[in-house]
Amino acid sequence: MTRPKILLTRPWPDAAEKWISERFDVTINTSGAPLTPDELKAAMRDYDGICPTVTDKFDAGVLGTPDARVQIIANFGVGFEHIDLAAAKAAGIVVANTPDVLTDATADIALLLMLMTSRRASEGERQVRAHGWRGWGTTHMMGQSLQGKTLGLFGFGRIAQATAHRAKAALGMTIAYASRSRATPEVEARFEARYVDGLDALAAQSDVLSLHCPGGAETRHLVNARLLGLMKPTAILINTARGSVIDEGDLAQALKDRVIWAAGLDVYEREPAVHPDLLGLDNAVLLPHLGSATVETRAEMGLRAAANIDAFFRGEAPRDRIA
Ligand code: 8YV
Repeated sequence: MTRPKILLTRPWPDAAEKWISERFDVTINTSGAPLTPDELKAAMRDYDGICPTVTDKFDAGVLGTPDARVQIIANFGVGFEHIDLAAAKAAGIVVANTPDVLTDATADIALLLMLMTSRRASEGERQVRAHGWRGWGTTHMMGQSLQGKTLGLFGFGRIAQATAHRAKAALGMTIAYASRSRATPEVEARFEARYVDGLDALAAQSDVLSLHCPGGAETRHLVNARLLGLMKPTAILINTARGSVIDEGDLAQALKDRVIWAAGLDVYEREPAVHPDLLGLDNAVLLPHLGSATVETRAEMGLRAAANIDAFFRGEAPRDRIA
């Protein structure tokens, strides 16, 4: 029996590549360069399954490729803003993602950004490397304590809750959240989390506002000049979710004008481009989408995507089916 043909749009960690290659007829884009829309369309015609990443945009045009052969898109990653689920459904293509396995790694990055922004870590390191440090001083580069401060989480899913756990246990922060649906009393009790009705109220009450909502049309530019204007001048904004949630031009202006104190970003609207006005700001900490970038997590992501492919071609429902 011929084995289904699977395309990995990027190289994967060795263990995951090995696992899937032992079971399927696998092609790997070893160049690591993101595929163009035309290459994605060709892949739609040539493969039974595709394992893309955040950089592969499966919009209605790509998903509607005539004479497509692909039956399943098993994304390497949990976020799926780059895949038009309605168009996939219309084309009869199953879509799966990789939840759970990157929760801790991403929450770690949220905490890292909270500490880096509140304690001005990037700014301090830049000063040392530029030979600009004049020595210890009573008021030199003072940051802010996070102890007892309010962490406001917008979205209260897995990664938000893992971030809440860390912030409460390690930093002694109190937790507030706003989300589409309210968590159960048990979940709220676990974090002593206070439910806040809506992003505006959450933004106004938070010392640190951390974004954990999905990307997409519904959340695009929710963080704009108006919302930033509701925040405390001492507040810190953290984004490990999707860049599109923030209007980066508005944020750069607000950081410049000290409307808010600092921002820590791991994701951007037009990756790898970062809004040029953010690049020169000392109160912006900018990471290159490292949320899930640990050896352990990336291997687990590959194995999870591979398991979704495997289940599908054995005739079972992929564990992480989202469309
Ligand atoms: C991934 C992420 O590395 O899983 C996600 O949604 O944002 C990242 O941590 C990337 O999306 C892989 O496709």
